[in-house]
Amino acid sequence: MASLADQLQQLSSALEAALQRDKDEQSVRKHHADCVGAMRAAQKAALSGASDKKAIGQLTNEHIRRAEGIYEAALKRLADEAAARELERSVDVTLPGRARRLGHLHPITLARREIEAIFAQIGFTVAVGPQVETDFHNFEALAMPKDHPARDMQDTFYVDGSPDVVLRTHTSPVQIRTMLAQKPPVRVIVPGTVYRRDDDATHSPMFNQVEGLCVDEGVTFADLKGVLLHFARRFFGDKIGVRLRPSFFPFTEPSAEIDFTCVFCGGKGCRTCKQTGWIEIGGSGMVDPEVFRHVGYDSEKYTGFAFGWGIDRMAMLKYGIDNIPLFFEGDVRFARQFR
Ligand code: PHE
Repeated sequence: MASLADQLQQLSSALEAALQRDKDEQSVRKHHADCVGAMRAAQKAALSGASDKKAIGQLTNEHIRRAEGIYEAALKRLADEAAARELERSVDVTLPGRARRLGHLHPITLARREIEAIFAQIGFTVAVGPQVETDFHNFEALAMPKDHPARDMQDTFYVDGSPDVVLRTHTSPVQIRTMLAQKPPVRVIVPGTVYRRDDDATHSPMFNQVEGLCVDEGVTFADLKGVLLHFARRFFGDKIGVRLRPSFFPFTEPSAEIDFTCVFCGGKGCRTCKQTGWIEIGGSGMVDPEVFRHVGYDSEKYTGFAFGWGIDRMAMLKYGIDNIPLFFEGDVRFARQFR
């Protein structure tokens, strides 16, 4: 009994000494748990063959309660020290805060949304398609069979090992996807990223187009011009005119290049429009019956027009940007100007 009391006393003192040195809660907890464990072990040893079991139990519990007190005091000391350190920290509350810059939309997104909104007002819905396309949708169904010379107009990225898979070179394949999926009337606008092997100040290998497609009974070339004129005036202003120049696309007949009045000189002639007063915007035409044949539309009953142009180019004209790579370099000094 006497030796148990000594042992317990020693354990308590050792605990007290250890906790005074401890700098963190974790070691305080560990030292305390070890000490209680040792006290229980000492109790167990003393109990074997003893007659005063009750006194042994009481004595041990008394020391365990003391250890508990030592432990609580140590935790409190650590908490007090932490609070004191916190109070000593000096904070200059008069320093100006760090302003967070708000994000904003990219100029191409701004242009795309505005284009979509203008066409939505005249009944066009937005359709999208995949950027990795089949040869069928990108070329074949648009009346550009394999080896057709018109394929040369679009320098194509093919996918290694899959000759029938391409990065779409234009948004026109979505004309095909839309018509395969629904019956006329069709009125869709198709924004999207397209790819061609071109890379200079006015061409990026990745750029964005918007396609328009309208198919119904009695749709005419005049409807095409009216829709384009409506768009041009909404997007660039009331003074803008539209000129359609004869051209060729395999999937439209007749086909026309779309020109808008030069937005920089208002048609008087300047360096940008090469003194012509007009700026080339994109391609257009009446949907070729060959395309209708591929999607199962009756070309005796339905006619339609289609057009397509670069969104990036639209944004360049609208915001006066002369270098297309600026859009994709991610330089915030450029992007910030379009808030
Ligand atoms: N897809 C053509 C191009 O990228 C543009 C176009 C679209 C022409 C629709 C006519 C009709 O060059």
